Amino acid sequence: MSGKFYITTPIYYVNAEPHLGHAYSSVIADVFARYHRLFGDDTFFLTGTDEHGQKVAEAAAEAGRTPLAHCDLMVQRYKNVWEKLNIGNDDFIRTTEERHSVRVQEILQRLWDAGEIYEDEYEGWYCVPEERFWTEKDISQGNCPSCGREVTRLTEKNYFFRMGKYQDWLINHIKQNPRFILPETRRNEILGFLNQPLGDLCISRPVERLSWGIPLPFNDKFVVYVWFDALFNYYTAPQSRGEDWWPASVHLIGKDILTTHCVYWPTMLKAADLELPETIFATGWWLFNQVKMSKSLGNVVEPLAMVDKYGADAFRFFLCREMSLGQDASFSEEALVKRYNSELANDLGNLYSRLLKLVHTYCEGKIPSRESNENGKEKRGIDIARPFLASARLHIDEFELNSALNIHMAYVRGINKFVEDTAPWKTGKTDPEGTRYNLRIALEDLATAAYSLWPIMPDKMGEILRTLGIEDPLNIPEDTVAMSLPDGYAIPEKAALFPRIKLEIPKVPETPDIKSVDNLVSIDDFRKTKIQIAKILSASPAPKSDKLLILEVDLGDEKRQLVAGIAEHYQPETLIGKSVVIVTNLKPAKIRGIESNGMLLAADDNGKPVIIVPDDETTPGSVIS
Ligand code: ME8
Ligand code: MG
Repeated sequence: MSGKFYITTPIYYVNAEPHLGHAYSSVIADVFARYHRLFGDDTFFLTGTDEHGQKVAEAAAEAGRTPLAHCDLMVQRYKNVWEKLNIGNDDFIRTTEERHSVRVQEILQRLWDAGEIYEDEYEGWYCVPEERFWTEKDISQGNCPSCGREVTRLTEKNYFFRMGKYQDWLINHIKQNPRFILPETRRNEILGFLNQPLGDLCISRPVERLSWGIPLPFNDKFVVYVWFDALFNYYTAPQSRGEDWWPASVHLIGKDILTTHCVYWPTMLKAADLELPETIFATGWWLFNQVKMSKSLGNVVEPLAMVDKYGADAFRFFLCREMSLGQDASFSEEALVKRYNSELANDLGNLYSRLLKLVHTYCEGKIPSRESNENGKEKRGIDIARPFLASARLHIDEFELNSALNIHMAYVRGINKFVEDTAPWKTGKTDPEGTRYNLRIALEDLATAAYSLWPIMPDKMGEILRTLGIEDPLNIPEDTVAMSLPDGYAIPEKAALFPRIKLEIPKVPETPDIKSVDNLVSIDDFRKTKIQIAKILSASPAPKSDKLLILEVDLGDEKRQLVAGIAEHYQPETLIGKSVVIVTNLKPAKIRGIESNGMLLAADDNGKPVIIVPDDETTPGSVIS
């Protein structure tokens, strides 16, 4: 059964260099797109770049370039990485393209005419140096929660989208469509979020504050808020091609952009009278430093450098294999090499080179014909290929990439076992026909495995298939791949598909024996450090930093502000009310210009901070000794 499949990645901000996280979204989307192409679906795969807004304008200014010149430069870097990774997107949209902006303006005009957008005064606390508004809740003691400087009361005219009125409709839609938001934990997160009243959305920025954006068609003194512009890329790109892809089958996103995609976007579409995407799937988070990396130890790993070192296929394989889609995982060179050696070099690569050799020894280097396969015997190749492919497909339809890979690798090990059990090296002389039959079957199974792994490793699996006389997997209907090997096709004797890798991890200096170190502290020294229980009152991300959170904590008799490097692992909302452990007599420090009075204690679990909490209800201010 074939159909239509339209998949998207987030469009990436061009304020940063492409990194592992971006590569992950693009690789996964590419893998799903390729699977659907194999399944015979009409497939459209879109990616692109998000080029407007404050962040990009700032990054450009910092680099001393005009915003567009900056975008042009950065876009090329993304495109280069995608090419290296074999990302086969059908289109690449840039939000600065006219095909996008004219369509966004059309929609804005339509929403304005329909009364879905209205003008209002916006009143809030404005931080002049940071150029941003804060709500009453945000500001503590009259100061900017981000830079600590004074804020001023400011009234500004702006435009608002009537998002709030769609709240009940959205809750219903989510409840009635269990596949609308996946995985389920994310769906519950959004339903939880929607328990609070949903307000309207400010969708404009006055040009005096920010000019790098799409002008509102009904008032050019304003540009549209970057998310209102960016989300529409999913719609404008296919429209601009005059192609009928909308609505998308899947928006693949990271969990960091859940609310914009699951709350803003559906209500925007509803207001514009457009259909909703079928599924929004939020992937998990890659942790970069699970294996301790430190510049001084010389083992810093830049994940994308692994592509050059081990090849796009090994890298793609690792990303799909290591992460259970939707959950977090950690990246390390060691883990990549381990997977590579055991599953690609050993299981798959060995099978391939072994079969080539056996075919040379017992079949004159030519694929044995199918006839030797019949003679009333079971058609093993096809009989096991069909259920295997069907079950692989079920996993793909359920976004269980990692389980799909499990069954693939089990299938590959099954072929190895078949070769082992039928032992052509023993039967070759006594039963040449039976031996050829068994080798034909093993080749058919290998072709099936390569065919079904092709979306993950298009280069190497394409190579296996071509060696076996199959030029293009997309020209073969899925359950006939086993039958498509051309009888008598000459194959090479040798091929090194996945040569084993010997990993050289730079030696970490050995930790000296504790007895011999001279930096032991006396109990009195230790007592100089004051450690106390504190309760977190508020938590907010530090501006311009992905790592830092600003915490306001209660120490019983005083409140403190401190900065903690935990933003990549803790959502601010989840911290509020938590009792934590703080070093309180450190000299105040400025971290990225933000004052920090104290240090939050956390365990360093291979690079992932884990906050320490007391075992029982503890009064804020209690001293730890
Ligand atoms: O948010 N692990 O763009 P962005 C896994 N322009 N995925 C990661 C990751 C990590 N450590 N870091 C980033 C934007 N990602 C907006 C999107 S869409 C209309 C606009 C991935 O450049 C993840 O998919 O910050 C995340 O959602 C995306 O990169 C954000 O990229
Ligand atoms: Mg981001």
